Order: sequence, then C-alpha cells, then structure tokens
Amino acid sequence: FSYPNLELQEELKRTAEAIVAPGKGILAVDENNEGIGKLLAGVDLENTEENRRRYRQMLFTSDEMLSNNISAVILFEETLYQKTDDGILFMDLLRKKNIIPGVKVDKDVVPLHLTEEYTTQGLDNLAERCAAYKKLGCRFAKWRCPLKIGERSPSVQAIEDASHVLARYASICQSEGLVPIVEPDVLLDGNHDIVRSQKVTEVVLASVYKALSDHHVFLEGTLLKPNMVTPGQQCVKRSTPEEIASATVTALLRTVPVAVPGITFLSGGLSEEDATLNLNAINQISKAPWRLTFSYGRALQASVWKSWAGKDENIGKAQKELLQRAQANGLASLGKYVT
Ligand code: 13P
Repeated sequence: FSYPNLELQEELKRTAEAIVAPGKGILAVDENNEGIGKLLAGVDLENTEENRRRYRQMLFTSDEMLSNNISAVILFEETLYQKTDDGILFMDLLRKKNIIPGVKVDKDVVPLHLTEEYTTQGLDNLAERCAAYKKLGCRFAKWRCPLKIGERSPSVQAIEDASHVLARYASICQSEGLVPIVEPDVLLDGNHDIVRSQKVTEVVLASVYKALSDHHVFLEGTLLKPNMVTPGQQCVKRSTPEEIASATVTALLRTVPVAVPGITFLSGGLSEEDATLNLNAINQISKAPWRLTFSYGRALQASVWKSWAGKDENIGKAQKELLQRAQANGLASLGKYVT
C-alpha cells in the first residue's frame, strides 16, 4: 500500500489546515441552478445566469473583513467562469481577498431503484473535471451524500453506497491535488429523536471512514462536513444547544480519526441563530482533537437574501448582514459567541 507523494501530501494538508484556521470557516455558495432558482423566485427575480451572477457578485465584493472569518468559498461550476461588472474573474477576486476557492463536484442525487432512497452521481470523468478545476485555481472540492432517517432507513444499501461513492470521490480529488470535503448528510427531516440521530450518524461515519481507508485516502488532506446531531425537525422533544453539542461531539469522537484536521458542519435547515448557538456549544466542549467550524449555506445567507430582496440599493445592507453572520460563526468556532 502506498500514499500520495510527499509533496502532494504536504500541499493537501496545508490547504485543509488553512481552511480550518482558528476563527474561520467556509461560506457554501454552491446551490445548483434549481436551488438558487427558488431563492431568486423568492425575491421576484427570474432564474437567469445574469441574476445568479449578480447575487454572487454581491457576496464576493463584500468588505475585505469577510476574510477574517471566511477562509474558503464553495462555488457552483458555473460561477468559476463568471466575472464582476468590471471584468474580474470571481476566482481572482476571492484569491486576492485571501479566500480559497473550491467547487461542488457532485451532480446531485438520483433514486436508488426500487427503494425510497438516493445516491449521488458524478464520478464519471471526475478526474478530468478535477484537473480542469485545479488549473482554474480551485484547491478543494465538495461532494454531498444525503441520507434520510425513516422507519427503515437509512438502509445498509444506502449507507454502503454513500460510503463507497464518497471514498471514490475523495481518492480522485486527491489524485488531482484537490482537498476533498467529504459530506455525508444525515438529514434533519423526520420525527426521530436525538438518540436515533446520534446512532445513525455514528453508523454512517464509521462506514465512511472504513471506505476512505479502503481507498487509501490521505486523511490529513481531507475535511469532513457532517450534520450536527439534533432531533428530527418534526420531533416534539427539542434539545438545547448543550445537548446537541454533547451528542454531536460524542458521535464524532467515536468515529472520526484524529488524523482528520477539521470538521466543518453543514447547517442543513437550522435557523441562522441555532446553527451559531450549536457551533458555539460544540466548541465549548474542550476534548475534541480536530478544529470544529462551519461550512454553512443557508445559515450564512438567509438574512442576506432577505435584506437584498433583489434590489441594487440594498447591496450594502445585505453585505453587512453577511459580514455579521460570518463574524458570529467565527466567534462560535472558538466557543466565544455571546448573543
Ligand atoms: P447548508 O448549510 O444550507 O446545509 O448548505 C451547506 C452545503 O453545502 C450543503 O451541501
């Protein structure tokens, strides 16, 4: 058995560690065209490439201070080629601000035939795509595999499939010099309690790390992007941030190797405030061996969309909102957030 050559190991490790530098996390702006279309519809805008560009331009032209708390941005493929009004590639703008660009490389979910579950597609030609993204300046990639908790799910079939797909993705990324962000997302939907959520999360993570080992993935050059362990959205028994933090850290301690440099949580439909409070509580538990930070999409952008409302005159206000959410989560990643 072998490992990536030492130079590549060093590069991957450096990138992964830079993304989880103290007080920093990831801004996930990698909504696919259907996803951002819904958000644009919410502000009465048509889902055109120009409107998608205008929204994302607003985020990326925010004050330099954004990079105090945002180390990296996950982009949708289309965005890699887009420019500001004055012709600067978004990629160059981000790099100038000391923000590391990365890209979502999965091609979304498709049903597993004869089940109610899903798999994530996009492995075909992935090496070629990764090589091209690396040339454009990307240093990491993201791939998400959602798993739904139901009466009989996630099934062994779905868990094993997700683990295998994530491991193949991660090994392909590393072969092309990109840090893979491995995202097994145990969804928030359902009426299950926090104990079930913890158990399922543990089983999924144990399976994912076995597969990563089987595929010779260099763990020091990866990041994990998991769900927090919470009760299902429809569960009547709610948990405090401290209970969520304890269940989350316990699940991670039981399953994630210490060689992994950082864990960057998804927000998964939590409100902005809950996502921040939970992350803060997680970081107040001192025994974790990895950096624990955020890789939020919705929980960094919900207020931004509201403030912007699709109007140029609101850009300044919306950018301020983004900065505030980034600062709050930066503090939470250090366990220093106060409401
Ligand atoms: P949310 O934080 O909105 O869950 O998005 C993060 C992400 O990148 C999901 O793949």
